[in-house]
This record gives sequence, structure tokens and C-alpha cells, in this order.
Amino acid sequence: MTLLNLLASRSSRMKASEIRELLKLLDQPDIISFAGGIPDPSLFPAAAIGDAYQAVLGGAEAGAALQYQVSEGFLPLRKWLAAYMGSLGVACDEANIFITSGSQQALDYLGKLFLSPGDTALVTWPTYLGALQAFNAYEPRYDRLNTAGGNMTPEAYRAAAAANGGKVKFAYLVPDFANPTGNTLDARQREAVLDLAGELDIAVIEDAAYRALRYDGEAVPPILAFDCARSGGIDNARTLYCGSFSKILSPGMRVGWVCAARHVVEKLVLMKQASDLHSPSINQMVMHRVAETIFDRQVEKLIGAYRRRRDALLSALEASMPQGITWSRPDGGMFVWLTLPQGADATELLARSVKEARVAFVPGNAFFADGTGRNTLRMSFTLADDRTVGEGVPRLARLLRG
Ligand SMILES: Cc1ncc(COP(=O)(O)O)c(C=O)c1O
Repeated sequence: MTLLNLLASRSSRMKASEIRELLKLLDQPDIISFAGGIPDPSLFPAAAIGDAYQAVLGGAEAGAALQYQVSEGFLPLRKWLAAYMGSLGVACDEANIFITSGSQQALDYLGKLFLSPGDTALVTWPTYLGALQAFNAYEPRYDRLNTAGGNMTPEAYRAAAAANGGKVKFAYLVPDFANPTGNTLDARQREAVLDLAGELDIAVIEDAAYRALRYDGEAVPPILAFDCARSGGIDNARTLYCGSFSKILSPGMRVGWVCAARHVVEKLVLMKQASDLHSPSINQMVMHRVAETIFDRQVEKLIGAYRRRRDALLSALEASMPQGITWSRPDGGMFVWLTLPQGADATELLARSVKEARVAFVPGNAFFADGTGRNTLRMSFTLADDRTVGEGVPRLARLLRG
């Protein structure tokens, strides 16, 4: 018997991405890959994390570390995060902090909390693929959030949502060094997102996964900080800030957080109780110790290493890419976004590139909720050492010259 005809309608949009399948084939050692959007494991603070696990398990905290705990998360970590958010211009306390198993879980929970089937989520074209995957389970429709301006009128957004039998519920965006484009919103654009959200009376999900990884220029305050200033404080804010330790300390430990109005945190806590009770106690306790001692130093170390790699990738693209191809010049994060001439197909190019040039990247199409963007692709520079860049970029450029 097959159980597949018993599945809930929400599962119909849960599909293995063809790109993820293709990228699985890329583990062969002679492939030069710019595909994986992951931190460089050689830069993980393994010794500090190892020492912290030993200290937690070898001392008085061992029982608590191995025990169940409250769904909100480990209190000292929540206090540390409230102070960290304060340093970014968001005055809050631990009641505004909710610990998740990575920020991916926050996206799932927020989708579950806000989206009824047929509701509309506003996302940028392109957006983070993992957010689309998280939201898809709640059967939304997507409309375009254009952070450069030129959005539809609030009435037009509302009418389109109503025609689909739902309401516009939130705008989701990655305002710092976005995955996949590398782009960052300036203060005016952040205010404009809040203006639109205010007119529509919707939530804003601010995905800040890359925020600390700035290599040039001045940091722009989080959207949540602008929101607190205009709404009179975090408990009146419409912005839900999703943070993560993954890109700085370790993605494997799965520790992220949401900073939001306490009435939203209270709902998320109930959701977590029903889902996995709480994030792993021991990982939260270790993350707290490690963050307290080395967070800033680790950020500096990553900035030094990744800035060099970004610069090397940008120089190599400049030196070898043919006319007609453009790319983003990110001030931080992990990604450079290339636009090929109209009519080009980056998925086809990947298949040829793997075969003929032995170079991999991620085709951009999967990041577009409307299925466009076939002439775009994403390159990650976090694992791009000199050999990767020095050989990989000219090989890809030769293929593109044809
Ligand atoms: C924009 C963005 N948000 C969220 C995540 C999820 O990160 P984590 O669940 O490890 O915090 C990622 C991971 O790549 C990402 O790129």
C-alpha cells in the first residue's frame, strides 16, 4: 500500500529541490565549488567550544545541562542576547527573547503562527530558499516585496490577497548581506519597509542571519530598532527579529533566537512546547559561555578571513568575466550574485559547468518565489581559498565565453 494518497495538502509543496539533488553530486574532490553557503569549518572556535562543554559537564551545571528545561530557553543566554540586542539599538529584556534550534526553526514557527492556507507573504525576488521552504508548509501565496521601491499600493496588495481568499500577513526579508544577493538595505529602505508594513498593518520578519559579518562600511541599525523608535518600544513593534549563532560560532549546535514583542514570544513558547519542548539545554549553556568570552574576537577573526576571500573573488570576476555579466559587490556576508544576459539559463549552465569545467555554483532560479531568475546564479566565497578562486573563476569565465 502507498501512504502517499493520505498526505495532508500542506505536504504537496514539500519537494526536494532539484538543485539540492544536483549539488549532492558535487562532493567529488576535483570539483571546484562555490555552491555551499556554509561557514569555513577551519575557522570554528573548536577549542573554546570543547573547553566550554567540559566545564559545563564537569561542574555544578552538569545536571541542568542534561535535564529538560523551560521552552523559552536558558535564562542567562536570553539575558546575554537582550544585552546584545540593546547594543544594536533595540532596548529589550529577556521576556523579548526566545531561543530556537537555529533561526530556520524561527522561520517555521513564524510561518505556522501567521499563515493560514491562502494567506499572502511578501518576499523579495529573490529570497532565501530556506524561508520559502519553511513557509510553503503553511500554503501561502507570495507577492513581491521590492526593497528598492516601486511596490504595489497597499490597496493592490490587499486586493490580490483577498482574491486568493486570504490576507497579507507579513513581509519577510534579509536586510543585511542577503542570501542570495549579498545586498544590504540602507536606513531609508528599512524605514520604507516599515512604512509599507504600517500601511498594510502586517508583521515584518527580519532575518538577520549574516548581520555581524560586515567587512566594509558602517552598520545600519536593525529594522527592529527603527520600529521600536517609531512604535514606542519593543512590545509595540511589528518586527520579529530572527538571529543566529550559526554563521559566527557554530551551525551544528543549532542555536538561534527571536527578539520580538512579548505577546509574540509567549505564543512562540507555546508552539515550542508542542514541537520539541525546548532547544538542547547543553548547547544553549555552552553557547552562552562561548558567546560571553569570545563572540567579538570570533567576529573579528571571521571578518578578516572572509573579507580577503570576498576581495579575491571580486578581483577574479573583474579580471576574467566576459562583457554582459554583472555581479553584486557585497559589504559582508557570504555571497556574490551574478546576472547573466537575458535568455541565459544558469541551471543548464551548472550541468555543463560541472561536466566540462568542473566548477559548481547555485543557479538563482530556486530563490525566486515566482519561478523566474533563470539567468542568475549565486557564488559563495567562504570556502574559496586562493586555488579555488584562481582556477575556478577563469574556468567558469571560459565556459561563459563559449
Ligand atoms: C538567510 C538565512 N536565514 C536563516 C538561515 C538558517 O540558519 P540557522 O538555522 O543555522 O540559524 C540561513 C542559513 O543558511 C540563511 O541563509
